[in-house]
Amino acid sequence: MTVTDSAGKVVLKAEGISKSFPGVRALREVSFDLRAGEIHAICGENGAGKSTLIKLLSGIHAHGSYEGRFEVGGEEARFGSIADAGRAGIAVIYQELALVEEMTVAENLFLGSEPKRLGGVLVDWPRVYREARGLLGRFEVELDPAAKVGDLGVGQKQLVEIVKALAKESRILILDEPTAALAEHEVQVLLGILRDLKKRGIACIYISHKLEEVFAVADRITVLRDGATIVTKAASEMDRGGVIRHMVGREIGDLFPRRAGSVGEVVLEVEGLGAGGAEGSEMELEGVSFSLRAGEVLGIGGLMGAGRTELLMHLFGCWGRRRAGEVKLLGVDTGRAGPSELLRRGMGLVSEDRRRYGLVLEQEIGFNLSLASLRQFSRLGFVDRQAERQSNEGLFSALRVKAPGLEEVVGRLSGGNQQKVVLGKVLMTEPKVVLLDEPTRGIDVGAKLEIYELVNRLTAEGKAVILVSSELPELIGMSDRILMLHEGRVGGEFAREEATQERLMEAAMG
Ligand SMILES: Nc1ncnc2c1ncn2[C@@H]1O[C@H](COP(=O)(O)OP(=O)(O)OP(=O)(O)O)[C@@H](O)[C@H]1O
Ligand SMILES: [Mg+2]
Repeated sequence: MTVTDSAGKVVLKAEGISKSFPGVRALREVSFDLRAGEIHAICGENGAGKSTLIKLLSGIHAHGSYEGRFEVGGEEARFGSIADAGRAGIAVIYQELALVEEMTVAENLFLGSEPKRLGGVLVDWPRVYREARGLLGRFEVELDPAAKVGDLGVGQKQLVEIVKALAKESRILILDEPTAALAEHEVQVLLGILRDLKKRGIACIYISHKLEEVFAVADRITVLRDGATIVTKAASEMDRGGVIRHMVGREIGDLFPRRAGSVGEVVLEVEGLGAGGAEGSEMELEGVSFSLRAGEVLGIGGLMGAGRTELLMHLFGCWGRRRAGEVKLLGVDTGRAGPSELLRRGMGLVSEDRRRYGLVLEQEIGFNLSLASLRQFSRLGFVDRQAERQSNEGLFSALRVKAPGLEEVVGRLSGGNQQKVVLGKVLMTEPKVVLLDEPTRGIDVGAKLEIYELVNRLTAEGKAVILVSSELPELIGMSDRILMLHEGRVGGEFAREEATQERLMEAAMG
């Protein structure tokens, strides 16, 4: 792979692309071009059509299912499958990774295209490993080709995906929200690799809700809104505010509209909590103490692996064995109560991993929203469908879920809109203590604001919120108090006024 003399040449062009799903016009005459050696970011709110555009480009939605025309390398492209797009030099890295966990790095890199020997009968394993080592070296990725993929962290897996895509000599690399699950240093590694690829003349489409990243790497930015192209401009001619304005189509005021209200009784009391996972798990919580009052937002921060998610899951009875201390919910010890009992007693958890814990993807929005609250609508053993429908509709519009209606299947919603449904499902149980684990991950600015307003409304109603977030500005902006965890212990507690990013970071590092 050498630096091309064709840098700057248009390698991909979309003209007047329109795509509809039943009840939704996902793309409206989108035009777009991508040049060799550029990183072109696509920004837009949840449901704006970003992933749909990518799916057309990568053959997931085949030619014939949309209007308009794609050109790759100057020729019309009509992809009938992912393989067609791959042959045309397009590689896509989705947020949900597609590696085989049981196989090694090298095996994954050459899956389906292993070098063969003895006339193509046997895989030439020494060569697989030799070439894998060469590839990893070429992209300066320090990974052992013999390591099992299942043992790698998310960030490392992502690197394997990228190297795999590039091994096929792809000229166009597409990343759809690649950093949503990465730790900060992994994000930096990824951005570094992208800059490097640029120098090799590879063209890259980069989708992310994190505007800092967009501005750190993008040469040009295209904003989509409601399926239409709003603007394409050099990143150097735009700023954050401008991108956000184009995305939402209106002026946005305060990004963190926290309104602290009056604070009431202690609703949750955690005293000297010690807990550990099952055998083999390293995470342990130790000596964690704090209290939470009605009307309050307690932010919890920390580095990846500090125990934030474990703490929330333990409070909700779904992680770890208690070894010490006690947890009182509305004055009563929670003991060994599990999630369903705690739900009944007034606690709700919005989990970070919505695909695993939050949603039944093949069911309708309505079904998912009232899933956890059916007893609330039950009278003498019958479900009051009308009451159920009313609450569903109330939440559906309060959360501004972007879908034709409650009957839409959740799996078809865009990522951010799925997150809103998870939130709605928990809120419908009317919890007094709401645990939110990264509630705005993968969510656009407009929807973030809606979620922040919701947090304000909850606390104004006297509910208490614990907010776990990796984004320090969000933590500082939306919490009344902040607890930083470090290796399973409390590394520091800060009132909102005294919290600065530097101080919080220091506490997180121990
Ligand atoms: N397979 C599908 N069937 C029906 N509707 C769909 C399907 N895929 C996407 N949509 C709809 O098309 C619109 C665009 O969705 P898309 O996934 O492209 O949004 P996005 O910009 O990627 O959003 P996000 O930032 O939340 O990932 C949404 O209204 C979505 O509900
Ligand atoms: Mg998307």
